[in-house]
Amino acid sequence: MSRPVPTQDPVETKKLPGNTMIEMIKVSRTYVPDITALSDISFAVDTGELFFLIGRSGAGKTTLLKLICNMDTPSKGLIEVAGHNINNLKGNKLAHLRQKIGVAYQDFKLLSDRTVAENIAIAMEVSYKKASAIRLRVRDLLDQLQLADKHDTLTGDLSRGEQQRVALARSVANSPRLILVDEPTGNLDATTTERVMELLNRSNKAGATIVIATHDASIYKDGNHRVMELRNGKIHSLSRNSR
Ligand SMILES: Nc1ncnc2c1ncn2[C@@H]1O[C@H](COP(=O)(O)OP(=O)(O)OP(=O)(O)O)[C@@H](O)[C@H]1O
Ligand SMILES: [Mg+2]
Repeated sequence: MSRPVPTQDPVETKKLPGNTMIEMIKVSRTYVPDITALSDISFAVDTGELFFLIGRSGAGKTTLLKLICNMDTPSKGLIEVAGHNINNLKGNKLAHLRQKIGVAYQDFKLLSDRTVAENIAIAMEVSYKKASAIRLRVRDLLDQLQLADKHDTLTGDLSRGEQQRVALARSVANSPRLILVDEPTGNLDATTTERVMELLNRSNKAGATIVIATHDASIYKDGNHRVMELRNGKIHSLSRNSR
């Protein structure tokens, strides 16, 4: 039998049955000598879902997000993202999939000697977006996040709450298919938290699958979302909010 002809965009076209964006099967992550950050985690996130990950400090939320975006590798188990075993992807295929995942890290990972606008533009530049489109998108995101006056400020000179929003803007800038957000509202007041959630809800309505790790009950208690609680590296509960 002849092999199928590869498409130009293998990551875009391959999908799991039932439109699953993320699937973890029996995933564990241990650190030497004897720290179990995650143990036997199995769950799936649908394409287009807005999914919350909760749990006390040290429960394993950040570890789980890092495994999904291939920043870290599991000690055991299988992780599929957009139909690909993310730990088996290499070179161009891995780079291509990573371009479709936007991540806002808990510790922001901004370039402190670059401006706010430059930090947000990075994700779009690596995928060769036009300079004019990048400028418009950056301005629009800064407006939405009440940071318009910080366009040319070095991120090292921003408050933590401002840095947090720049990290968020960078994660959504290139309209990725999957957005992973780690504690997006930890340093923010109620009004700014609302702005952040409006932006994430807009990205979700536009088709992005979003996983948010949070301690902030105000952002997940309303709405029809699934909420998964980790305790000591294990799934304690996985339920759907119906309010
Ligand atoms: N690189 C590492 N080396 C050793 N232990 C680690 C490492 N990364 C995480 N851990 C441990 O794994 C556990 C889970 O950490 P993780 O950062 O995933 O928790 P978290 O739920 O995100 O916590 P927080 O709410 O404080 O952000 C913790 O006990 C942590 O100390
Ligand atoms: Mg964390």
